[in-house]
Amino acid sequence: MPAEPPPSTPAPLVAGRTGVRPEEEPTVVAVDLGKDFGTGRPALAGVSLAVAAGEFVAVVGPSGSGKSTLLYCLSGLEVPTTGRVLIAGTDLASLRGTRAARFRREHIGFVFQSYNLLPALSVRENVGLPARLAGHPVPRSAVDDALELVGLAGLGGASPSTLSGGQQQRVAIARVLLAEPPVVFADEPTGALDAVSGDRVLAELRTLAGRGRTVVMVTHDLEAATRADRVLVLRDGALHAELVAPTAQAVFDAVAAAAVTRA
Ligand SMILES: Nc1ncnc2c1ncn2[C@@H]1O[C@H](COP(=O)(O)OP(=O)(O)O)[C@@H](O)[C@H]1O
Ligand SMILES: [Mg+2]
Repeated sequence: MPAEPPPSTPAPLVAGRTGVRPEEEPTVVAVDLGKDFGTGRPALAGVSLAVAAGEFVAVVGPSGSGKSTLLYCLSGLEVPTTGRVLIAGTDLASLRGTRAARFRREHIGFVFQSYNLLPALSVRENVGLPARLAGHPVPRSAVDDALELVGLAGLGGASPSTLSGGQQQRVAIARVLLAEPPVVFADEPTGALDAVSGDRVLAELRTLAGRGRTVVMVTHDLEAATRADRVLVLRDGALHAELVAPTAQAVFDAVAAAAVTRA
């Protein structure tokens, strides 16, 4: 006997411009994250979120609202006081030592100003390193193209220690653009860039998401935030609002509301 045709189901909700469906297993999951540095006020308090493959999410909020701490906890560089982080289904707390390092190397790309480059290697070697470690080195011309994209043409032979903090972060951007890790965390990736380079970097991050990577970017540039599929607004270490494909004005209003200090 032929099977009954399945009942017609309504089209699933589509989150964001990339068409990522909420029922897909998210790549980055945080459950009730808290981080207390013992300063009297927690940096993070009860943050839960899920970001799918192919999604480009921006995190905004007033200075000190916990954006960087959230990114460090999500990427395993900071251990949360409470809660859990899962990357591609793996609880980061279940990994230790070299296993943790290997997992991060294989799954996560960082664009952080102060956690970046190997000083003994040249800029070019730093950019090509993830691909080399993964066993398929990329040609020098591809590395130089990535450096040109972030406005560092001609600096491939330099030592990272001779670069400014902003330039070092651009090396880190070139590195993730080339390596295309499954998950990219970027803290203010356009902060040290001129408008044209910033625009190119945002377009590249968008492209990475379009190729199925998960991109989570902290930014205080509200225009930049509108390039994301979804914008999370942090306030006092907690999620204050979530905006899907918002306008710059909507992001501005949400951040302004988050900046109003409690009486
Ligand atoms: N290593 C640390 N030790 C103590 N306090 C910290 C540390 N890192 C961040 N904080 C505090 O946590 C809060 C959130 O900081 P941060 O995540 O850097 O905010 P944002 O990136 O939104 O500006 C701030 O009050 C900050 O002073
Ligand atoms: Mg910060």
